[in-house]
Amino acid sequence: MKVCYFTATGNCLYVAERIGDELLSIPQLMKQDEIELEDEAVGIVCPVYAVEMPMMVREFMHKAKIKTDYFFFVYTYGEGYAEALAHAELVAQEVGLDLAYANAVQMVDNYLPGFEMGQQIDSLVRKDVEGQLERLWADIAARRESRVDVTPETLAAVETWQQRLAVPILRKDTARHYIVTDAYTRCGICAQVCPAGNIVVGDKVVFEDKCEVCYACLHACPQCALHIPRERSAARFRNEHISLKRIIEANA
Ligand SMILES: Cc1cc2nc3c(=O)[nH]c(=O)nc-3n(C[C@H](O)[C@H](O)[C@H](O)COP(=O)(O)O)c2cc1C
Repeated sequence: MKVCYFTATGNCLYVAERIGDELLSIPQLMKQDEIELEDEAVGIVCPVYAVEMPMMVREFMHKAKIKTDYFFFVYTYGEGYAEALAHAELVAQEVGLDLAYANAVQMVDNYLPGFEMGQQIDSLVRKDVEGQLERLWADIAARRESRVDVTPETLAAVETWQQRLAVPILRKDTARHYIVTDAYTRCGICAQVCPAGNIVVGDKVVFEDKCEVCYACLHACPQCALHIPRERSAARFRNEHISLKRIIEANA
């Protein structure tokens, strides 16, 4: 089984490794001229961003030629995924993939404008991540199906969400306004964890225009020198099972 993943703070990498044995980083696959994946089961694990998938994951689904009898899609999310499963089904339809199983795992919400990270970490008790993962693993191991029915009502809801909160809107609103404080040391970790290769480190740190709005740079900065306007959390987050080195290996 092949599990392709996109991660900023480790939740999706942790889920991917709990499901499958062959893990493939989507940012790294995207560097190839052509992507061909064939296996009896192939899946994607990625975060919910503004009620849809990251832009790069959608581009990956368009670029990759995936041949499989069992295609599955798993989101990780923090507090609500609304029509994100329908969005995955719609993108699968766009590229002619038969989405047999779609599900979502509730974990820490790393969206800094919305949540305080200490409170989010406390919320893990209520979210019972391990229980969710056991059920997810059992479903996928048994090749169970869980299909998404896209009705005219869900289509309308997806469109409404996209007008209010789409990732390109977040990119325009926040990603162009990152704040770099005097604590910046040029250590380069922000550039190494960036899945989009969007950060150039020099006397000043420069953000180009390919930001995925994943906030990997903000969460990983050892000096906490990077900020966004209106952030609700002074604390930062990384999944407790995933080291910084593994995020760098996945995204550099
Ligand atoms: C820009 C952005 C938007 C997000 N939007 C949502 C959302 O709409 N709903 C939600 O529940 N979580 C949302 N999240 C939280 C992530 O989906 C969640 O923390 C995810 O588990 C992170 O995975 P990772 O650790 O692999 O990066 C958002 C996070 C970011 C950075």
